[in-house]
Amino acid sequence: MKQTVWITGASSGIGEALARTYAEKGATLILSARNEEKLNKLASELKTESYVIPLDLSQTDTLEQKAKEAIQKTQKIDVLINNGGISQRGLALETSLETERRIMEVDFFGTAELTRYVAQHMVNMGGGKIAVTSSLVGIISSPYRTAYAAAKHALHGYFDGLRAELHESNIQVTILCPGFIKTDVSVNALNEKGEKLNEMDDAQANGMEPMVLAKKIIRSIEKGKKEAYFGGYEVLSIYIKRFFPSLFASILLKAKVR
Ligand SMILES: NC(=O)c1ccc[n+]([C@@H]2O[C@H](COP(=O)([O-])OP(=O)(O)OC[C@H]3O[C@@H](n4cnc5c(N)ncnc54)[C@H](OP(=O)(O)O)[C@@H]3O)[C@@H](O)[C@H]2O)c1
Repeated sequence: MKQTVWITGASSGIGEALARTYAEKGATLILSARNEEKLNKLASELKTESYVIPLDLSQTDTLEQKAKEAIQKTQKIDVLINNGGISQRGLALETSLETERRIMEVDFFGTAELTRYVAQHMVNMGGGKIAVTSSLVGIISSPYRTAYAAAKHALHGYFDGLRAELHESNIQVTILCPGFIKTDVSVNALNEKGEKLNEMDDAQANGMEPMVLAKKIIRSIEKGKKEAYFGGYEVLSIYIKRFFPSLFASILLKAKVR
């Protein structure tokens, strides 16, 4: 049956790749992010029914209305992929509380708030699938990304609990944890002053292609995975941290993270 998939962060990188891959499968799409021009351009290139709903995840008081608009346009949302997010490249002691709050607003509060309204719709419709793009940094942490890691860790606490709450309502929750993916995530990351970094990290430049990742993500959602890891050698960090936490802490002291 034709699915309706709502993707946040669809204007670039992983979200755009997810939109292109779902479009090939014939899904109806709702494309969201702040940059309406990029979303419209993407929608015009997709050979599938698609709706552009621009939104800013940090404007949490607008998200109920955005959810109403999406439901009114498509009648039924089968899959929500909470993918919009912003990263960080700045030392904790030099980063302002304001910058930390901005990262938390987008990566955590906005994501939780949008999910609340879509999840209620899914409960009313008898089921659905919710995914959220965390990161390997949602499980481990890393210098220069303390607030980002905190926001992504918070997603695990929230969505693991939500999965249990929504189980009886036939709603599946998948937490996606990518490693290094070749997108502009570091270019768009906030520095200590809360400004756009504008630098491509080597790790991202040499990372997995977003279109390769998108296929893997869709497979993990279709399989109903609860948590899924993606990337190259960096995925090992999850297991080193889990089974040898002290060793992981020493490795982190020497790791090239910028
Ligand atoms: N690339 C990686 O290596 C990597 C690894 C792990 C996790 N991730 C996560 O993957 C997700 C997608 O990132 P990406 O790698 O594709 O980077 P990206 O190219 O920078 O994409 C980020 C997306 O989020 C949107 N966004 C940012 N701030 C927003 C806001 N306030 N409201 C609504 N949308 C907003 C951006 O659109 P607008 O600017 O148009 O709003 C853009 O579409 C993020 O959650 C990121 O944390 C990335």
